[in-house]
Amino acid sequence: MTSDKQQMTKLWYKNAIFYELHIRAFCDSNGDGKGDLPGVVSKLDYLQSLGVDCLWLLPMFPSPLKDDGYDVADYFHIHPDYGTVDDFRRLVAEAHARGMRVITDLVLNHTSDQHPWFIESRKSKDNPYRDYYVWSETDQKYTDARVIFVDTEPSNWTFDPQTGEYYWHRFYASQPDLNYDNPEVAQKMMDVLRFWLDMGIDGFRADAVPYLFEREGTNCENLPETHVYLKKVRAMMDAEYPGTILLGEANQWPHDLRPYFGGDENDPTVPGDEFHMAFHFPVMPRIFKAFKTENSADVIQIMRDTPSIPENAQWCVFLRNHDELTLEMVTEEDRQFMWREYAPDPKMRLNLGIRRRLAPLLDNNRRKIEAANAILFSLPGAPIIYYGDEIGMGDNIDLFDRNGVRTPMQWTGEKGAGFSTADPATFYAPLIDDDTFGYRRVNVAAQKTDLDSLWHTMRKMIAVRKAHPVFGNGDLEFVPHDNPAVLAYFRRDARETILVLVNLSATAQKITLTAGDLMKAPPYDIVTGEPVAPDGTSLWLQPYQYRWLHIG
Ligand code: GLC
Repeated sequence: MTSDKQQMTKLWYKNAIFYELHIRAFCDSNGDGKGDLPGVVSKLDYLQSLGVDCLWLLPMFPSPLKDDGYDVADYFHIHPDYGTVDDFRRLVAEAHARGMRVITDLVLNHTSDQHPWFIESRKSKDNPYRDYYVWSETDQKYTDARVIFVDTEPSNWTFDPQTGEYYWHRFYASQPDLNYDNPEVAQKMMDVLRFWLDMGIDGFRADAVPYLFEREGTNCENLPETHVYLKKVRAMMDAEYPGTILLGEANQWPHDLRPYFGGDENDPTVPGDEFHMAFHFPVMPRIFKAFKTENSADVIQIMRDTPSIPENAQWCVFLRNHDELTLEMVTEEDRQFMWREYAPDPKMRLNLGIRRRLAPLLDNNRRKIEAANAILFSLPGAPIIYYGDEIGMGDNIDLFDRNGVRTPMQWTGEKGAGFSTADPATFYAPLIDDDTFGYRRVNVAAQKTDLDSLWHTMRKMIAVRKAHPVFGNGDLEFVPHDNPAVLAYFRRDARETILVLVNLSATAQKITLTAGDLMKAPPYDIVTGEPVAPDGTSLWLQPYQYRWLHIG
């Protein structure tokens, strides 16, 4: 391999298409009504044909499932519903054979209260595992730390009558936080990483990382100690498993996120030495807001407020995921606006967010769904597709917590939706079965045979994006113009300039550009392949129409 090629392979994540899937929800191979690893293997060809480069699997470990697996009871096995460690090895091998990579969730911050460490820890104050968790005589410590699951948890402390002390937890009380001040804990979690990396996985989506340490007088988020630990994790991975990545989940403002990439904030050529990637949380709700206000200003502002990151790092952008659409990174006024507009029924709300899927949020309006994806696939960063959103699946707000956005994948219009041969009444969750989003109407089989379907559009968009590496590597520059209803930006690298135009409104919009913007080369639309002959320097966009124009 030439060194250019080697470098590109090492930086594979910078231009990868990620696909997030829940094993339980994807495909059931043994007819027990729950998805499993062999089921995922059987769908790898499907994922490959969509253009996916890397799968992100939600937690797959033994767990009492109080938080759908984010409450880990054993880091070294697979949940029996999902299969075995050998099944997992096979999944990794089969994915690799198709040129796809696999990352798994890594829950560092907490375990389940059923984890043997916690079972020991709560037994007595002098138990050797006591110090694996954060205990206190009083619940008046770290009072500046916010509660995250505000709908269910009154406090970050829970009293444990066995020893008469409180234990610390940032999420459910059934998820006690590990104590990273204990070097043994820090070391043991490194062993967990090595165990799965030895199986050939390509990295981790590191869950809830801002909360690893606690310090009095702080909000207990993003502490310097957390960065020191994460840098050690990165150094270990770089040294022992080169080419693997850490994708961080830190729901924070861009300037608080920047330190998670490491390197030098003033010099992007200095390599990052912490996360390879991090989710860009704040841009997501602003994309949704923009479609309601028909105004691009907030998206532009947050991207302008986004600091540059090291050249070897990348953002991960997403529209939806397995959680509620979080409104933590917006102002109180905007939160109220988003709830009013997108969650009129109180059942649609959860904690500081909205528990709905992409298609229902966007009124199942095909053009709007495509426009939102056109933004996702053209902003700086690697895009993540949440399983089912490529066919416009719906949600079920009658289900508990976030389960309404984790219903079985809809493969066919037949009984069981091609998800499982079990009696659908015994599925882990009911299929979506309403008139608009039900599996009889919305399913992979139907969309694959219909060349005009959302699935084919998504597949095309992915292919076009991949054919133009500028989307992954290029600079972002907003185009000054006089119509706020049109989001307009250049993506530019040494080889190519693409002009992205997205009409955020339900009416046709005209955008007037300066002659220089369009005249460098005769523009053509890289999605349709058609030349675009602007009327002078003006272009009309139909409601929610987008254009990706090659202009030089
Ligand atoms: C992350 C996960 C979420 C989980 C929480 C606690 O935010 O995305 O699903 O409940 O961490 O592990």
